[in-house]
Amino acid sequence: MPADSHSIRRTFLEFFASRGHEVVPSAPLVPQNDPTLMFVNAGMVQFKDVFTGKDKRNYTRAASSQKCIRISGKHNDLENVGVTARHQTFFEMLGNFSFGDYFKEEAIVSAWELLTKVYGVPKDRLVVTVFKGEGGFPADDEAAAIWRKVTGFGDDRILRLGMADNFWSMGDTGPCGPCSEIHYFHGANPDVARFGEEPRLDGSGWTEIWNLVFMQYDRAEKDAPVTPLPAPSIDTGMGLERIACVLQGVASNYDTDLLRPLVDKASAISGKPYTGGNGADDVSMRVIADHARTTAFLIAEGVMPEKQRREYVLRRVMRRAIRHGYRLGIDKPFLHEVALLVVDRMGDVYRELRDRRDLIARVTEDEEVRFRATLKRGMKILEERFGEMRDKGDKTLSAPAAADLYTTYGFPLDLTQVICGEQGYGVDVEGAEKVIRGAEEADGPIDPGAALDPAYREARAKLGGPVGFTGYEQEEGDSEIVALIKITKKDGSDKPARALVERVGAGDKVEVVVKDSPFYAESGGQVGDVGRIEADGLRIDVTDTQRPLPGFIVHVGAVASGEAKVGQAVHLEVDHDARSATRRNHSATHLLHWALRTVLGEHAQQKGSRVAPDMLRFDFAHNKPLTREEIDRIEDLVNAKVLENAPITTEVVSIEEARKKGAVAIFEEKYGDVVRVLTMTKDSMELCGGTHARALGDIGLFKITGEGGVAAGVRRLFAATGKNALGYVRQLEDDIQKARQVAKAQGGDLAEKIGKIVAHERELEKKVSELERRLVEGGGPGGGGGGGLDGMLAEAREIGGIKVLARRVPDGTQSAALREIAEKLRDKLGERSAVLLGSVAGDKAQLAVMVSKAATGQLKAGDLIKGIAKIVGGSGGGRPDMAQAGGTDVGKIDEAVAATYTEVARLLGS
Ligand code: ALA
Repeated sequence: MPADSHSIRRTFLEFFASRGHEVVPSAPLVPQNDPTLMFVNAGMVQFKDVFTGKDKRNYTRAASSQKCIRISGKHNDLENVGVTARHQTFFEMLGNFSFGDYFKEEAIVSAWELLTKVYGVPKDRLVVTVFKGEGGFPADDEAAAIWRKVTGFGDDRILRLGMADNFWSMGDTGPCGPCSEIHYFHGANPDVARFGEEPRLDGSGWTEIWNLVFMQYDRAEKDAPVTPLPAPSIDTGMGLERIACVLQGVASNYDTDLLRPLVDKASAISGKPYTGGNGADDVSMRVIADHARTTAFLIAEGVMPEKQRREYVLRRVMRRAIRHGYRLGIDKPFLHEVALLVVDRMGDVYRELRDRRDLIARVTEDEEVRFRATLKRGMKILEERFGEMRDKGDKTLSAPAAADLYTTYGFPLDLTQVICGEQGYGVDVEGAEKVIRGAEEADGPIDPGAALDPAYREARAKLGGPVGFTGYEQEEGDSEIVALIKITKKDGSDKPARALVERVGAGDKVEVVVKDSPFYAESGGQVGDVGRIEADGLRIDVTDTQRPLPGFIVHVGAVASGEAKVGQAVHLEVDHDARSATRRNHSATHLLHWALRTVLGEHAQQKGSRVAPDMLRFDFAHNKPLTREEIDRIEDLVNAKVLENAPITTEVVSIEEARKKGAVAIFEEKYGDVVRVLTMTKDSMELCGGTHARALGDIGLFKITGEGGVAAGVRRLFAATGKNALGYVRQLEDDIQKARQVAKAQGGDLAEKIGKIVAHERELEKKVSELERRLVEGGGPGGGGGGGLDGMLAEAREIGGIKVLARRVPDGTQSAALREIAEKLRDKLGERSAVLLGSVAGDKAQLAVMVSKAATGQLKAGDLIKGIAKIVGGSGGGRPDMAQAGGTDVGKIDEAVAATYTEVARLLGS
């Protein structure tokens, strides 16, 4: 019976490989081609289209160990994590699959043999379940009969359960079918009568370990009737942590070698013991262990903690772990240390962890540093509240106060509760939740950790609800000023100070809030719109549009003329050209993202983007520079789509409708009541709030203009579209034209011409230095020439046992030649020698010093040149055996050269 988790995993895969299964690597956690799922939640996800017949593989049986996260949607284990012995957000699922190959019988026989014969699990600790028939689906008598034959069990150990337990589907849509589960009894005395009870806290009781799904149907749309799959298929899943728990004879998944070291790490950092019980500290340590795995694995795939979608889920998981650390009394960033242990323990099996080790550490620590700042700020405010409550004799923190901590300062409500509890105060949790819900309904989700300027809070209160955004259909419209926020600089700081005012006049910097606006506020990487707000005599130039809170648009700008008043009717107009260019760039980023994944692989997920009228910047996960060929292919793919010129549709629909389309990622995060579905190509339906071109052809030429790295594992591309692409091409043409003129090249021979020029230049350089050298060596014209090298040697003087020679050589000798000659002279002079040469080249005095190795103990070239260079108004330095300097006082070159002998004497002290 293999005990360590690595052998359990390997044994599983080898067992099925020996039965003709293709061992397929785990798919990434971020689902590929499946927008209905946030994270891969089962081994079958990567085979979804194979089951339905949409995709074909060159095998009909497969086995895998799949990374899974169950944190949202139909399969969500988040709340159970840490509390039960069996749940994690991250786990590995061992599975075998048949795509129209074998069906129930072989699936059951294989599972039974592996469990009882290979892993050696005792039969009397197992029971199995089959589907009893429900919801219009028949009972699975066939499976029951096979189980009876294979196990020898009677009906007492082949239990029949309904839809909830024995009918499995991936989500609201996708392949599904009845299933059979194998359950194991932990602890002493297996007792079938106790089946169905919650497992005990000591871990004893029945737990499901393996689910065999008999895939027979497909559900194309939520709540639609199912249709049969092309062929009955098999999908099984066994949690690695659960089987490890069985085979390692421990009570909890958290005691297996997969998780216990992480729990112990949390315990060591906090300095508190782990007792394996259900005390708050134990729960916290288990939560940290689990969440550190989710954190490390998601960052390794390029998911970063951010404000939206899966990024936001990661952020919440991380912050949850950090809060548990905080609860445990850990007072400095720690989560990265646990995440690094995940890398060390699992990096051999999941290479992406090793490859992204630094990124995982850095991102995790950064997030914790930021979140701890939020916590600190919240604590300060809570302390003020405690002071007020003490004064008034209140024992309960009011709903508005508790809600405000969250909505304004991002301080989580459950933490408020914990801290109030510790101080002996209660919290009106229900009331606070209601206030928070109301705020979120009006404005969208609140980002825990974000503080809000009080002026915005007041302005938002005046507005009473979200600003009506009309900019998807319109670029101008009429509205009314609801609030004016005047901006001044805070004393002695660069930070703006905001104040709500009734009116502003010419020259004032202002943020304008209106009832309805066509201006798009910066979000999702797209910059805010620019344009004008006008009324009789009034003009405000809007230079940016921001959204401090979802649904709360502020127009940032300055009053160019006239006066603006609260309540005034105004006309708003977005700059059309800028908006059009932005739309092209934004649509192009979606195509680029798709093309990157097609060319580089699914790991090339978006990491960030900036979309402006004159800029398209896109960051994505990838750890090496793109090759020329890759860039060409990406450009080709995007441009081919552009030429197809399919219409881009952006529909604003209710969440329900979006869900029905089955094409939108809707998960536990809140989008508000309506979402916007962007359809660009038949394989891409996404949620996007940005403004887009009307058809792919509007994008015009798409050209990548730059590529580079931004952080470990993250690359950045710049691209141009439409008129910008034309501008880019023109600029290139211009440069080439100029180069042609300079190089006197015609047609296509520019590169050849430049190559020739460069080669010619190199040759000339060589010749010049050769000539210079010969001139000196042979005793050419110029200051101090005559006699050649050998003639010069005679001038050497012996000082302190070193032969010293100082000479001025002909004007125009450049530093390279100067060094070369000095070197020759030094070598000719003998083992203990020093040479200083000076020349005037152009308007500079040049000096070079060479000291033989044997002499450097006494005399260093750098020391000598320092004193001499001063004379010509320069400075210099170098190594002990070589130094050079330049100076501006060319008239003093002879004096400098002559001073060499006395300077050497001085340095030698002789
Ligand atoms: N897909 C099945 C499950 O996740 C095996 O339980």
